[in-house]
Amino acid sequence: MTLGIWRFSDRLPPVPEEFRVTLGEGDTPLIKLRGLDIWVKLDYVNPTGSFKDRGVAYLTSKLLEEGVKRVVIDSSGNAAVSTAAYCSRAGIGHLAVMPSYSHREKKAEVLWHGSRIVEAPDRDSARLYARRIAEKLGVRYIGFALEPDAVPGFETVVYEIEEELHPDAVFIPTGSATNLVAIGRAYLKLEKGGEIDGLPQLHCVQSAACAPIAGEFVDYKPIDSTLAEGVIVPHTERKEEAVRLIEETGGTGWVVDDDEVYRALELLAVNGVYASPTGAVAVAGALKAGLRGRRIVCIVTGSGLKANLMPRGFEDRILRVGDEGELERLLEEHRL
Ligand SMILES: Cc1ncc(COP(=O)(O)O)c(C=O)c1O
Repeated sequence: MTLGIWRFSDRLPPVPEEFRVTLGEGDTPLIKLRGLDIWVKLDYVNPTGSFKDRGVAYLTSKLLEEGVKRVVIDSSGNAAVSTAAYCSRAGIGHLAVMPSYSHREKKAEVLWHGSRIVEAPDRDSARLYARRIAEKLGVRYIGFALEPDAVPGFETVVYEIEEELHPDAVFIPTGSATNLVAIGRAYLKLEKGGEIDGLPQLHCVQSAACAPIAGEFVDYKPIDSTLAEGVIVPHTERKEEAVRLIEETGGTGWVVDDDEVYRALELLAVNGVYASPTGAVAVAGALKAGLRGRRIVCIVTGSGLKANLMPRGFEDRILRVGDEGELERLLEEHRL
């Protein structure tokens, strides 16, 4: 059985079999939310808990083919986790530069895979530091916003979706726009090859904390927040292509605030889906768009297990019981 993204190797730029790295990424569930025309592609159901594994599986294989020995990556978290896991598997050394607000759970996983972490004050300085480290140590810099080989693996999400349904619109949480660009390129290829009937609209969803791409399409009130940390990417070389793909497909940009992200998390949770705040951003965008009667697919990119966020109002829902007497009182008061 061919594992992971390599199931689609005939659609990807070629990599000789001996260099193909996989942890069995991809083939993630596509489920419909109750009572809505929204399907969620649970791309956090990947080996390291995020969609990044698709891109990193391909990228690591190329690094192996090129004989790269060590890499340095800047990341808000998930890309560092994925790169650490796949590079460990491939025997490639790795170093991660992450903003200090990155979740502790992600840092733990990066460290487990044997990486060192350089903590930077924010996303832009992480990128600056990583480039400087690469230059000084002569190791390969991996910046997702730049790296051509980071894109192809992400295309596989489209090939999987299309095996099940052809959506009218796809909502994508967007930071560096690597995923959006990959999805757009894959759809263009399918359309050119006559494999699909028309392009779905591509919708870019960003947080009001940082919305350089969605902000090209809508006005919004900026907020100061790191709740959806994965999409806080102030600068990306992929912006132009992303904007072009959104326009070409008739999509648009959506900017969501923290309340909208929480509402998406709550909706997902009552559907049995435990996403990270960044992972829920696409659903927040789709709810805001309210496109009725259309088949919408939202990419849920990150797992709640890595974010460790309590739900709103949780204090009232934890009932601390010291002894049986207290338990009896709770039962009598009908508080359970
Ligand atoms: C969970 C999650 N969703 C979305 C994104 C944004 O993806 P991209 O940088 O490809 O736009 C990230 C980036 O780190 C992420 O961690």
